[in-house]
Amino acid sequence: MAEETKRRKADHIRICLEKKAQAKKATTGFEDVHLVHRALPEIDRQSIDLSTRVLGHKFAAPILVGAMTGGTPEATQINAAIAEAVETLGLGMGVGSQRAAIEDAKLEKTFAIARKKAPTAFIVANIGGVQLMRGYGVKEVKKAMDMVEADAVAIHLNALQEAVQPEGQTNFKGVLSKIREIADSVDQPVIVKETGAGIAAEDAKKLEEAGVKAIEVGAVGGTSFAAVEYFRAKAEDDVQRFLGEAFWDWGIPTAISLVEATQTVKVPVIASGGLRSGSDMAKALALNASLTSLSQPVLQSAVRGVKETERTLSCLIEELRNVMFLVGAEKTGDLAKVPVVVTGRTAEWLRTRGFNVEGYAIRGARQRGH
Ligand SMILES: Cc1cc2nc3c(=O)[nH]c(=O)nc-3n(C[C@H](O)[C@H](O)[C@H](O)COP(=O)(O)O)c2cc1C
Repeated sequence: MAEETKRRKADHIRICLEKKAQAKKATTGFEDVHLVHRALPEIDRQSIDLSTRVLGHKFAAPILVGAMTGGTPEATQINAAIAEAVETLGLGMGVGSQRAAIEDAKLEKTFAIARKKAPTAFIVANIGGVQLMRGYGVKEVKKAMDMVEADAVAIHLNALQEAVQPEGQTNFKGVLSKIREIADSVDQPVIVKETGAGIAAEDAKKLEEAGVKAIEVGAVGGTSFAAVEYFRAKAEDDVQRFLGEAFWDWGIPTAISLVEATQTVKVPVIASGGLRSGSDMAKALALNASLTSLSQPVLQSAVRGVKETERTLSCLIEELRNVMFLVGAEKTGDLAKVPVVVTGRTAEWLRTRGFNVEGYAIRGARQRGH
C-alpha cells in the first residue's frame, strides 16, 4: 500500500513538471477582475507593508506555497528548497498529503525536512478528507501535525480526482461529520482545501459551521487533477483516459469560488488555483482573500533549488508590491478597500447566484463621495 502511495506521489510530481496538466479552456476568472489605476496613489512605494496576520501568525507577505509533496527522495529536496525559501522570505508552506508517511514511518523525514529548514515559517500539515472515511481519525491527524510541528492542518477534498480513477475512493458520505470531529479535537487551526475544482458557497458555509478555521478554495484555472489522472492512465486504461479528458476543466473558477466563499463565511479564505502573478494575487486580496497560494509554478523552480525558488517568490512579491503602489494600497489590508470592477462571465455567474458584484466597484473614495 505504502509503495503504491509513494509511486502515485512520484507520478504527480513528474506529470506536473513534464506535462501540461493545467486547465485547458477554463480560466481563473481573474481576467474579469479589474483593479482601478490611480494616477495619484498618494503613497510612497518604499513604505508599502506587505505583512499580514492570519490564523495568529505574521506573514511578511500574504503568500502560502500550496501543498504538494513528500514521501519520495525527490520530494525531500523539493520540500527542503521550498522551506528554505519561505523561511528567508517570511512566508508559509503546505506539505503534500502525509498518508505515505503515516503508513510507513521511514518516509517521515521527507516531510519533517520542511520544519528543519523552516524553523519559524507557517507550516501546514496535510491529510485527505477521503482518508477520514477509511479509518483515519484524530490520532493520524495529530501524527501528521507532529511530523512537521505544524501550525495548522489542511484536510484536502479531491472528489474530482477520485471520480476519474476507476479505482478511486468515491464514498464521500459522512466526510463533513469527520471534519467536524477533527476540528473539535485538534488545538491548531483546521483548514479545508480543494485541490483544483473549487468550493461553492453552500459547502463553505457547512465547513464554517463544522468548526473549520480557514477555507482554501483550490479552484479552477491552474493545475487540473483530472488532467494529472489522464496522464497517469496507462494506454490500455481507456475509461480513466476518457474521464480525465472529459473532466479536465471541471469545477468553479478561482475568482468565482473566492467571492462565493468570502461573501458567505467569516473565517479567512485562502485564494488558490491558477494564481500565476502578483497581479492575480492583488486581485484575490482585493476580493477579500486573507492569503494567496500557488503550487505548480513553485514546483517548477523548487526542482532547480533554493535560489530559484526564492527568485520566483521574490518576483511575485515585487509584482504584488507594484500593483499595491499603483492602486494606492499602503498595507495588504488596504487592497480590500480599493475599487474593483468585475465584468463578463464572472460577474454574470455571481449575480445569478445572488452575490453582490457592484459593491466592489464603488468602495473606497468614491463611496465617500469624492
Ligand atoms: C504536484 C502536485 C501535488 C499535489 N499534491 C497535493 C496534496 O498532496 N495535497 C493537497 O492538498 N493538494 C495537493 N496539490 C494541489 C495544490 O495544493 C493546489 O490546490 C492545486 O495545485 C492548485 O494550485 P496551482 O494551480 O497553483 O497548482 C498538489 C499539486 C501539485 C501541482
